[in-house]
Amino acid sequence: MNKLLAITLAIFVGACSSVESGKKTNSTWEPIIDQPSELASIMRSLNQEAELRKQNLEKGELSEVNSKLIFKMITAKPTEPHMVGAAFAPNTEAFIANYRQLSNAKDIDAQIDAHNNLVKSCIACHMNFCQGPIPLIEKLYVNL
Ligand code: HEC
Repeated sequence: MNKLLAITLAIFVGACSSVESGKKTNSTWEPIIDQPSELASIMRSLNQEAELRKQNLEKGELSEVNSKLIFKMITAKPTEPHMVGAAFAPNTEAFIANYRQLSNAKDIDAQIDAHNNLVKSCIACHMNFCQGPIPLIEKLYVNL
């Protein structure tokens, strides 16, 4: 399953729309898999963190929630400038507020609820700015 997720992630890497990445098949295309933007690397870490948290929650285990990366999101450089816009800052603030609630959740049920709320706020921002990874992000929901 992890391998599958990694492959799915690789398909979306460097491109917010899967259609876009499908077009880049000419010989001048260079994969930017090894050089993600600052924002893309933060996203990969947050995604990985959420995958692990989901696995733990499904085993009935709490995870530590204390990433400092979330505070770097607003200023992080995206792959292309159009990937962030006016709604980016308010979306980041909503995300950070949900992350804070998640870090305050002290039992499994509360952490599951807060985790799923956080995933919603990932998707809310992605609807505006970066739709490609949404199917991947939806897999982060914990349904117990
Ligand atoms: C405030 C807006 C916003 C929020 C919140 C957000 N993202 Fe993103 N995400 C973006 C943008 C913009 C990009 C494109 C970054 C780039 O290519 O530089 C991106 C890219 C990604 C990527 C692709 C990274 C790559 O390798 O190219 C993944 C996966 C991802 N986000 C997952 C998540 C997950 C999981 C969450 C929640 C834990 C989340 N995002 C929350 C805006 C957001």
